[in-house]
Amino acid sequence: MAATLRGRCFPWVWLCRRAWPGGGRHYRAARCAELKQPLAIEEVAPRPVGPHEVRVDVHFCGVNFADILVCRGQYQERPHLPFTPGMEFSGTVLETGTDVSTVKEGDRVIGVSGFNSMAEECITDQKALWRIPDRVPLREAAILPVSYGTAIMALEHRARTQPGETVLVTAAAGATGLAVIDVATNVLQAKVIAAAGSDEKCQLAMQRGAESSVNYSQGSLKEAVRKLVGSGGVNVVIDTVGGDIFLDALRSLAWEGRIVVVGFAGGTIASVPANLLLLKNISAMGVYWGRYQDRNFPVFSRSLSSALQYCQEGRIQPYVGAVFKLEEVNDAFLHVIQRKSTGKVLLSLK
Ligand SMILES: NC(=O)c1ccc[n+]([C@@H]2O[C@H](COP(=O)([O-])OP(=O)(O)OC[C@H]3O[C@@H](n4cnc5c(N)ncnc54)[C@H](OP(=O)(O)O)[C@@H]3O)[C@@H](O)[C@H]2O)c1
Repeated sequence: MAATLRGRCFPWVWLCRRAWPGGGRHYRAARCAELKQPLAIEEVAPRPVGPHEVRVDVHFCGVNFADILVCRGQYQERPHLPFTPGMEFSGTVLETGTDVSTVKEGDRVIGVSGFNSMAEECITDQKALWRIPDRVPLREAAILPVSYGTAIMALEHRARTQPGETVLVTAAAGATGLAVIDVATNVLQAKVIAAAGSDEKCQLAMQRGAESSVNYSQGSLKEAVRKLVGSGGVNVVIDTVGGDIFLDALRSLAWEGRIVVVGFAGGTIASVPANLLLLKNISAMGVYWGRYQDRNFPVFSRSLSSALQYCQEGRIQPYVGAVFKLEEVNDAFLHVIQRKSTGKVLLSLK
């Protein structure tokens, strides 16, 4: 259906969105109605905000590997169908609930949401929002929650990375990978070996601060790391790939090394040979960043405040690899899952 205004044709839904002042306009959202099927863009009716909730005008939403897994039913959390994916965003506050005291209308914020931010608007609890400092653009800010929150949690809170230590990071040119390189080199003064699946990705990782790189599609990661650091090994591994890459990385660790399991982008979950942990006094640990929101909120919140602070001080520089429009969300998912992406992929809602 279409309506005419001053001789121009507009879709009916376009007029609906703007012709409902105060009552809440409809907004567009990516919807997953059936697992493993393309997402649809739908007009969604808004709901009122609760006392502790905030309605945000979303400007950018991160496209995470986890969003794709959720829409395939392969993630540890399984929202009820239909749902709107998207777990992080940047935007401005549109409306606040009666008991909200932390932000006000017009504030620029980043936030995390269960699943609902691949949409022009989203509602979230005030505790899941952080104000963006003036110097940080909304686009770069959108990268901070998941990628930098995870990188900071893995490097600082879990592996306790020290200045001068060597960090090996896998899928190094990816969203998490580049954030790890940024924080490790520019905040923690560690030396990074970037491991990635192509020469172009290795080159990018080097440009973003890695000291050396290994293309693991062309031979053994363990042998390549040994050539770089000798038999001593690396102090910390941050692994997002899993499978044989994880096992090679584990075997590349030095005495009292730490390996942090972040993800299984390669699709295989490796078993840890416990004898390796014993022989070199190695610690193998995991990080599930989002889980800290419920289990240890101060630690979770600190990872985000630190990311914002590092960004405001110019110590880190989040890297946007590609920006897609909301209606291109399925292309954005393919871009990531086909290993074509580098850095963070964002949806722009404006
Ligand atoms: N635990 C947590 O809290 C947490 C937080 C954030 C992300 N993660 C996890 O970390 C992993 C990376 O997430 P991300 O968002 O940063 O993604 P990403 O690195 O931007 O993209 C995934 C990368 O993984 C590598 N990869 C290796 N084998 C692959 C395969 N079979 N299919 C697709 N990619 C493959 C590719 O890099 P190469 O071509 O260089 O190999 C690809 O570019 C995911 O498993 C995600 O769920 C976990």
